[in-house]
Amino acid sequence: MSQSITAHGGALGVQAPRVVVLGGTGFVGRYLTRALVAAGYAVTIPTRHSARHRDMQLWRGVRLVDGSAPAASDWATPRAAAPLSAVMAGHAVLVNLVGILNERGHDGRGFAAAHVRFTQQALTAAHEAGIPRYLHMSALQADAERGTSFYLRSKGAAEDWAHAFGAAQGIAVTSFRPSVIFGAEDAFLNRFARLAALMPGIFPLACAEARFAPVFVGDVASVMVRAIRDQNSVGQRLDLCGPTQYSLRALVAYAAAAAGHPRWVIGLPDWAARLQARLLERVPGQPFTRDNFASLQIPSVCPPGCAPQPTTLESVAPGYLRAR
Ligand SMILES: NC(=O)c1ccc[n+]([C@@H]2O[C@H](COP(=O)([O-])OP(=O)(O)OC[C@H]3O[C@@H](n4cnc5c(N)ncnc54)[C@H](OP(=O)(O)O)[C@@H]3O)[C@@H](O)[C@H]2O)c1
Repeated sequence: MSQSITAHGGALGVQAPRVVVLGGTGFVGRYLTRALVAAGYAVTIPTRHSARHRDMQLWRGVRLVDGSAPAASDWATPRAAAPLSAVMAGHAVLVNLVGILNERGHDGRGFAAAHVRFTQQALTAAHEAGIPRYLHMSALQADAERGTSFYLRSKGAAEDWAHAFGAAQGIAVTSFRPSVIFGAEDAFLNRFARLAALMPGIFPLACAEARFAPVFVGDVASVMVRAIRDQNSVGQRLDLCGPTQYSLRALVAYAAAAAGHPRWVIGLPDWAARLQARLLERVPGQPFTRDNFASLQIPSVCPPGCAPQPTTLESVAPGYLRAR
């Protein structure tokens, strides 16, 4: 790769480079932000809800920037493009972590807006601002064509677009494709631990045999920070898995027991899982949807030969699940 990754005013490392992290207030974003600051970067985080993340205003090396007002909160609209490029001016790196697991409707348009359109607007704005380096958060098994769900297809389409745009415009792009991510504030093990507490002895579970290789959020953040300066990662799509594969059934039983609510996990047949999804996608917070069901039809594990990230679930999760 002949293209050099440079910051405004010189090579990375000559001065504290500035990084924009879209989605920096979320679960992964908070870990990544800490890791970036520890590595000497100054971090700017545009957010739709700065008041909700007031604690981050106090973080050293971090600048929270107000996005649009809540009524215009979705940046996947043309009107937000201009402010975004203004925010990006003077930065060396753009990281895009924006992503949703559920959409309001059921036709994929919400996913297309949050993943594809938002990526297009963000990267176009980055190009206008002269940002030479882009890190894109995708997901394992994301595939624009063969993805089993709107989520996975839209993630794949966004990732493809980012790589194509980067290659055409001279922006150095790396994408990251994690399996499910665990860590103290995760929405995965914590959710099952919370649900287990509400279940009377048994835990009826959809897609119980679905497979995952959970990866620690701290490992994901480290890989991303290292990639910024790693020329070899430019143009790469990096699958990220933890060291062990589990069935969803095993993970739910583990989370329930570790949180002090051991439950007997009963796998639902597919017809019942689909029915459960139809019902639960109408519940506030959409704990399970038909699109989630579709995502779970393909194992979220890395292909053979892919080096796993080091941190085990068992060395981290009991600490935060027990503390619930
Ligand atoms: N967590 C996992 O297990 C996992 C696994 C594989 C891939 N990923 C991917 O990793 C990324 C980060 O995941 P996460 O778990 O950290 O998610 P998260 O906690 O939900 O954070 C996502 C952040 O994105 C911003 N955001 C959401 N929708 C937006 C929209 N329509 N327009 C603008 N900003 C929006 C939000 O920031 P503000 O509210 O401050 O604007 C939010 O804090 C996502 O792309 C996700 O698909 C996650």
